[in-house]
Amino acid sequence: MARHVLVVGGAGYIGSHMVALLAERGHAVTVLDDLSSGHRDAVLAGELVVGDLGDRALLDALLGGRRFDAVMHFAARIQVAESVAQPARYYRNNVAATLTLLEAMLAHGVGAFVFSSTAAVYGEPQRVPIDEDHPKAPVNPYGRSKWMVEQMLADLEAAHGLRSVSLRYFNAAGADPAGRLGERHDPETHLIPLVLQAAAGRREAVTVFGTDYDTHDGTCIRDYVHVADLCEAHLLALERLWAGAPGGAFNLGNGNGFSVREVIETARRVTGRAIRVREGPRRAGDPARLVADSRRAREVLGWRPRHDALETIVAHAWAWESARA
Ligand code: UFG
Repeated sequence: MARHVLVVGGAGYIGSHMVALLAERGHAVTVLDDLSSGHRDAVLAGELVVGDLGDRALLDALLGGRRFDAVMHFAARIQVAESVAQPARYYRNNVAATLTLLEAMLAHGVGAFVFSSTAAVYGEPQRVPIDEDHPKAPVNPYGRSKWMVEQMLADLEAAHGLRSVSLRYFNAAGADPAGRLGERHDPETHLIPLVLQAAAGRREAVTVFGTDYDTHDGTCIRDYVHVADLCEAHLLALERLWAGAPGGAFNLGNGNGFSVREVIETARRVTGRAIRVREGPRRAGDPARLVADSRRAREVLGWRPRHDALETIVAHAWAWESARA
């Protein structure tokens, strides 16, 4: 059955892929995005409303004007270092504005919410792979802001029946397999796009942040998960909420860890280009290994990641990156 979904942050990296998928599956989409980091031309379907998710009057006009069957929330600030330097910005955008959105949903009777959470809620892992019951001990304001919202969601469900799914992404990467969309952050801080910019000659070199970690090659290990697979998980979460089943929190990762050096080697193979590497000091707050135990998403949501090979993730990101001017 076709539904109407409000995608907050639908002009951003993951949100824009979600909008395209929802439209492909026959759903109507409205995007709310302030375009502070998103791109108007990344909204391939539906209607774009340019505005701030913390603007209650705007939300009242939007949610009061038509019926929405769910809200998906991708609009957040996501840089760990910035969150340490400017915590208020993170609590304002990621927590306070999200609360305004949730209050507006309650006021207008929208009862299903899918939230973009993060592996950063776990902090420095006590065990790897990390399952959802691992202690939540975020080590920076970014991670705390996401965990605060997850806790708010549990309270709002208990008190008001607002049903939600929180999806804890590990390292979102890759690009639309059809080549229409990709990652465009400014500044870019994520490893795969930086490596590919170096491959494309748009960046002189890539710096490896730390070569003395307790891992097989001394560099950090991450669980890279394809953006298209993330979006499929969101759709399954929505369908679960619409079917009346309980929500909850789910990890989204492939369960495979790759080191920074392995990512660079894969990028060399995929692109056939030379990639200059510098070795630098550790970046503050980076755990040595973050790998997901995503069994819950597989078993409960029925999630089956299709693009779980790092080659595929890098190849799709490269198709996007190399097509850019
Ligand atoms: N790295 C480098 N050089 C770079 C950039 C990154 O060596 O120029 C390394 C990092 O140290 C890390 C790995 O590559 O070991 C991946 O770094 P990213 O910045 O791409 O991703 P993170 O693992 O730091 O961050 C991701 C999300 C964040 C989120 C975090 C924790 O992008 O939004 O996971 O959930 F906060």
